[in-house]
Amino acid sequence: DLYNMRHIGPDTKVYGVIGNPISHSKSPHLYNAAFRSTSFNGIYLPLLVDNVSNFITAYSSPDFAGYSFTIPHKEAGLKCCDEVDPIAKQIGAISCMIRRPTDGKLIGYNIDYLGAIAAIEEGLRASNGTTPASGSPLAGKIFVVIGAGGAGKALAYGGYEKGARVVVANRTYDKAEELAGKVGGQALSLAALNDFHPEEGMILVNTTSVGMKPRIDKTPVSKEALKHYSLVFDAIYTPKLTRLLREAQESGATIVYGTEMFINQAFVQFKMFTGLPAPKQLIRDVLA
Ligand code: ATR
Repeated sequence: DLYNMRHIGPDTKVYGVIGNPISHSKSPHLYNAAFRSTSFNGIYLPLLVDNVSNFITAYSSPDFAGYSFTIPHKEAGLKCCDEVDPIAKQIGAISCMIRRPTDGKLIGYNIDYLGAIAAIEEGLRASNGTTPASGSPLAGKIFVVIGAGGAGKALAYGGYEKGARVVVANRTYDKAEELAGKVGGQALSLAALNDFHPEEGMILVNTTSVGMKPRIDKTPVSKEALKHYSLVFDAIYTPKLTRLLREAQESGATIVYGTEMFINQAFVQFKMFTGLPAPKQLIRDVLA
């Protein structure tokens, strides 16, 4: 009973994930299970869509309450919003769209980075324990982002929003410079990263595919350089323990797995869709 059929009625809110292909998506299973466990009157569908604009126009009923966006529709989705959150606008893509109940307008957000940022903050809080309860543990820290593609941009904006001092390191230096300029940060070439240690206890985030299966022997930064970092996050999740994370752990850093990004993202999105606290253990179990 994936779709909680017995509960569908006139008040049921409809959600879905828009993409192409879509059959591989775990989201319908995840959100329907989460809706059921919290008694939220909603249903979440896999939506195989070719033309986002046509789709959104066709389903303009207020009962269509929100959508998630996946490949290749994150950019097209942005163009179909009535309003777009400033970070999503900067990134140039949305990850979800929510119909505002008061006026029915569709508001686009990009929360891809929030899951990663939340996981990193949690890792920092768990490792130093002494952080004040208010404010982000990222504030004032040097936050080094490797990569300047979609994920790199999102993480750089996320760090910037939390008050971190952002450094962007990229193979193509020009792209690092462009992104660093937008977040008031510093640019580095990937080669220069190995000798970059203005202070101890920095945070490192990899958003490149370096180290992804099947080339698991690769790492974007030397092991020697890792001793200057207190926390390392790798957006790669196949394998779960990348060479970068293994070497960071050996150097004494706290490590945060790529899988945590998806889990935390689901927590954030569930709350945005329903207004309810996320059933965290259930979400962890479904995504495990
Ligand atoms: P995503 O949207 O997942 O971030 P992307 O937009 O294709 O993917 O960006 C890929 C990032 O990984 C880029 O920063 C890219 O560096 P370049 O700008 O120099 O292309 C980086 N990247 C990919 N393969 C790499 C490699 N073998 N070595 C170093 N950097 C690499």
